[in-house]
Order: sequence, then C-alpha cells, then structure tokens
Amino acid sequence: MREDFLWGAATSNVQAEGAYLSDGKGLNVYDTLVVTPEPGIEPQFCDTSVASDHYHHWKEDIDLMAEMGFKAYRFSIVWSRIHPLGDDEANEAGLKYYEEMVDYLNEKGIEPVVSLVHFDMPDHLMRTYNGFLNKKVIDFYAKHVETVVSRLKGKVRYWLTYNEINLCTHMPDLVSGAIQPDGMSDSQLFVQLNTNVLIAHARAVEVIKKVDPQAKVGGMCGSSPYFPLTCTSEDNLATHFKNQMHNYLMFDVMCSGTFPPYFENYRKQRGIEMDCSEEEHEVLKKASQHLDYLAFSYYQSSVTADFAEIQDPLQKEDALLKDQRRLKNPNLKANAWGWQIDPNGLRYLLNVYYDRYHKPLFIVENGIGREEELVDGKVVDDERIAYHAAHIQAMKAAVEVDGVDLIGYLAWSPFDFLSSHKEIRKRYGFVYVNRGFEDLKDLKRYRKKSFWWYKKVIQTNGEDLKNNIEY
Ligand code: BG6
Repeated sequence: MREDFLWGAATSNVQAEGAYLSDGKGLNVYDTLVVTPEPGIEPQFCDTSVASDHYHHWKEDIDLMAEMGFKAYRFSIVWSRIHPLGDDEANEAGLKYYEEMVDYLNEKGIEPVVSLVHFDMPDHLMRTYNGFLNKKVIDFYAKHVETVVSRLKGKVRYWLTYNEINLCTHMPDLVSGAIQPDGMSDSQLFVQLNTNVLIAHARAVEVIKKVDPQAKVGGMCGSSPYFPLTCTSEDNLATHFKNQMHNYLMFDVMCSGTFPPYFENYRKQRGIEMDCSEEEHEVLKKASQHLDYLAFSYYQSSVTADFAEIQDPLQKEDALLKDQRRLKNPNLKANAWGWQIDPNGLRYLLNVYYDRYHKPLFIVENGIGREEELVDGKVVDDERIAYHAAHIQAMKAAVEVDGVDLIGYLAWSPFDFLSSHKEIRKRYGFVYVNRGFEDLKDLKRYRKKSFWWYKKVIQTNGEDLKNNIEY
C-alpha cells in the first residue's frame, strides 16, 4: 500500500459521547427518536445520556488510537452541540470542544477526517421544519457548515459532507430529520428527499471550498452492492435497479452535477414534479467540479430478486425500493444480526466505483458487530480479527491487482459505543468499554486482542495480517 495510506478508524459522536445536555448541547434526532429493532432482534436499547462517555474520555480514547499507530481518525461534529436548536447562534462551548480534539489529533500526528451530519440533526429542526424536506433546513445546515469550517480552517484537511446520505429515505427521520407527510407518496418522498439532501451536500461543498480552498471534500454513502439471487435476467434486472437507486444515485449526481436518466425516468413515469430551481441545479453542477474523493461504509453485500408475481413494471420497481424480504446469499455466513460477511464484495464495490467515477476512494467504515464479554480484563475477538484481515486482503487486491486509487481504510470502530439502534450489546471496537445495558459500571477502557493485531497491521502498512498475537 502507498506510504501515505490513511489507516485508522471511525466514530459517530452521537453514538459515543453521551453528555447529551452538557455545555449547551441541544437534543438531536438520535437522542429523541424511538429506534426500531433490527428484524429478529430482541429490543434492548440504551438511552444516549452517557453512551461511552467519550465526551469526558476523548483524550484517553485518542491516546489509545495513537498507541495503535493511527494515521487518521474520522469522527463527527454533533450538529446540536454547535447549533443547539439548529436555527440559533453557535454555541462556543461546542466549538471549543471539537477544536481541542482536532488540535490534539494534529499534535499526535493523526489526520482528522470530519463528518458534518451523522444522525445528529437538532431535534428542533425535525419537529419545527420537518428536517431536510424543508429547504430552510438546507440554509441552516449551510450556516452550520460555515461555522464549523471557519473555526477549523487549516486544521482539518478531510471533510465528509453527510454520513450515508443515500439512506435518507430508508430511515428518513434519523438520517435527514424528515417524517413523511400525510398525502405524500413513497415515490414522491424518494424523489424530493434525495433531491434536497443532494442540494444540502452541494451547498456544503461550496461553503467548504469557499472558506478553506485547501480542504478536501468527499461525499459519503452507505454501500452494499446487490447481487442477483439467481442468474436469470429478471433477477439481474432487479439487481441493476437496486444498485442504481441504492449505490449509484448519490455519487452519480455528486460527480456529474445532473440527475441521471434512470432517476428522471423514475420520476416522470410517475408524474412527479421535482422541486429543484435553476439556481439549485447550478449549485449541484458547481459542487461536482469540486468534489475530491468518494467515501463509503461497507459491512456486507446484499442479494435481491425479481418480484415475479408483480406484472406492472412501475409497481415492480416500487416493491424493490421498499423490499423487506431480507433475502440471504446462500454462500455467505452472517453475524448475530444477520449481516452477511463478504470480503470480496468490498473488492467488487471498489472496482465498480472506480470504473464508474474515476475518483479516489476512501473506505471510512468497515467492521463487525459482536456481543462480547470482558473476562479477566480481556476480550479475545478472533472473529473481528478474521473479519478485518479478510477485508483488508480484498482491499489490497483491489489496489494492487486491479489498480483502484484508494486513500485509506478506517475501521468501525476504535472503541465500543452504541450502535445506530442504540444497542451497547453490538460492539465493534478495538477497545472494550466497560458498561452494560443499564449498569454503567466504571466505563473503563480495555484493549481487546484486535487492538494489538491492528497495531501490527498499521506498523507493517498492511503487509502482516496474521493473527499470531500473544494476548
Ligand atoms: C453505519 C453508520 O450505518 O453503520 C454508523 O454510519 C453505524 O453510525 C454503523 O453505527 C454500524 O451500524 P449499526 O447499526 O450496527 O450500529
């Protein structure tokens, strides 16, 4: 791998910080929404008031990252810590908190990679304006981006405009603070919410490049390539449609500045008017010329199949968009939450994205959630080591054999914190955080076996992936 390859890991701060009302922070959608369990999972969700108490442990957590030899660390600046209500003035305590964190990372030689909206829209913007379905919220977001980037100018080189922007209609409330209004169809929501978040992304690119022209800006998607369940052309057509709408739409618009024919066609065939002014089209166009890289999370691949029983082609597409079948790939194993483990799916995705966009790529999340227990101060997480080793191997093949241009690999996650469904049971970290569901215990940090393994991987620039750690 190249010498300046960015090895490290990533955090979503709403899921880690806790201190949810400290120092002027406002409540955000992650704090207030009732999360639904993943299918088949017994609900056991924590509140967000303490999480992993990263708010008070951040230095110690970064010291552990430095000890692992991180070159980069991705974290998110919680929107409601900066603008507590979203439509109000900036909160100095919030800005100071992240500035100190960035300074400390730079001091340690760790490149900060900062996400600007990650499940953290101020709750007030959801309840009063209906989030990104309302264009006023795009203005508030642009203002927030300007506040943050002006403060951290010259200290942060890598920005991510919007975490998993392509999931905006999958979980509209958590991802974009929007609740589907009565009378708005699913297809209308799909068209307009995707349009609005893309405009928000483009406005962020514009602001970042204006405030700090040296900064590098990337778009970010939650990516899971779809494969056909069988080799019939019907299943392949279904797969093609899912990949367009789930994996390509956002990057297609971000990179070309225009809406692709398949999206325009989807909308026109349903008689849906899209609210996007000339000026907004122009913003999208301009932003596409200033996008430096494409970032994505990858945990698993997916499979899909035709809805053979549906004859009408538009209804078929709509059924595919809302598909709840959770079809399984018979060739893959999965974790306890049913997430299928497919390292070569990552190699495949890297190739598809690079062929399609010819832009540097950045893996900013990859990891496995496990239920774990501390035994004599240790966690033997060989399954995690095997997961990362296989994915890094596949990533190396994409770079060294296939010629993909890749900036870095950020694992999910450096230390344990709540899952997107607020579960502490589902742990991803290289460092164990000692807390239970209700019992907060002492929140002490313990190095898992994978901590030492990942340290070695970084030290050898990805050459030595063997699990021969004495622990
Ligand atoms: C991504 C998100 O969806 O996947 C993270 O960007 C999230 O915030 C991660 O935590 C893993 O998902 P989960 O549901 O297991 O936490």
